[in-house]
Amino acid sequence: MKLKGRVALITGGAQGIGRATALAMAREGADVAIGDLNQDRAQGTVAELQRLGVRAAAISVDVGDRASVAGMFQQCVEILGPVDILVNCAGTGAKGRGLEIPEDEWDRVLDVNLRSIFLCCRQAVPGMMERGWGRVVSISSQAAFSGSAIADLPYAASKAGIIGFTRGLARMAASQGVTVNAIAPGLIDTEFPIRGGRRSREEWLASVEKTVPIGRLGTAEEVAELILFLSTDGASYLTGCTIAAAGGSLMY
Ligand SMILES: NC(=O)c1ccc[n+]([C@@H]2O[C@H](COP(=O)([O-])OP(=O)(O)OC[C@H]3O[C@@H](n4cnc5c(N)ncnc54)[C@H](O)[C@@H]3O)[C@@H](O)[C@H]2O)c1
Repeated sequence: MKLKGRVALITGGAQGIGRATALAMAREGADVAIGDLNQDRAQGTVAELQRLGVRAAAISVDVGDRASVAGMFQQCVEILGPVDILVNCAGTGAKGRGLEIPEDEWDRVLDVNLRSIFLCCRQAVPGMMERGWGRVVSISSQAAFSGSAIADLPYAASKAGIIGFTRGLARMAASQGVTVNAIAPGLIDTEFPIRGGRRSREEWLASVEKTVPIGRLGTAEEVAELILFLSTDGASYLTGCTIAAAGGSLMY
């Protein structure tokens, strides 16, 4: 078991990519805390984790809110112990497209997608550095490189910001046994791309044939495998990277 004795905190772990990551880490022996707005779903995922024989906790959090993030870390430490692996997976898209969106909507998306990662890392990384081991994996997006196909400007900007933040923090923490990496998923089959009527499932599926060389959507489990790898000892010489999980639609 590659993560036995480790504590992982996964934001946005109630469903989708975060849930698949939580399950993959639990199968490798990690104890897992899930920080999510959606406590009904988080509790369901925690029950699945416990059935795998690990300790698990659902913690209510709004990742864009400083006090809420501080409370999540405090609860995680009390229930499971200090965080060894932080996965920043919670994310949101804007309500509206293009330059017409209100400024407060811009701020909300930047807070949930980018400021949250600063807030979580500020809680987690100093302790990891002191203990000499840690892993941070943050979920960016293909939109950071290619722009959002539906002109969600704050989404593309926030996801690009994650890449710069990852590189900066990776340099800062590298000598203390802490690696910091990001994943840029392409079109992954979760509820996210169609949430809130941002686009129809048909509109979304139509883009697969045109843009994805592998010719199908990715699965949450395929992204989770990559996050799992970056969280193990086997990935100890990888830091500051952003790895595409995009079926060939993003090559660099
Ligand atoms: N699915 C895709 O095609 C795709 C592509 C590129 C990037 N991503 C990114 O992957 C990450 C995970 O997305 P997913 O596809 O699993 O989506 P999802 O909608 O299934 O899961 C997102 C989770 O984040 C939680 N969340 C949202 N806002 C939150 C907040 N303020 N505080 C706490 N929790 C919050 C939700 O409750 C949900 O459980 C996101 O950051 C998303 O931007 C997804």
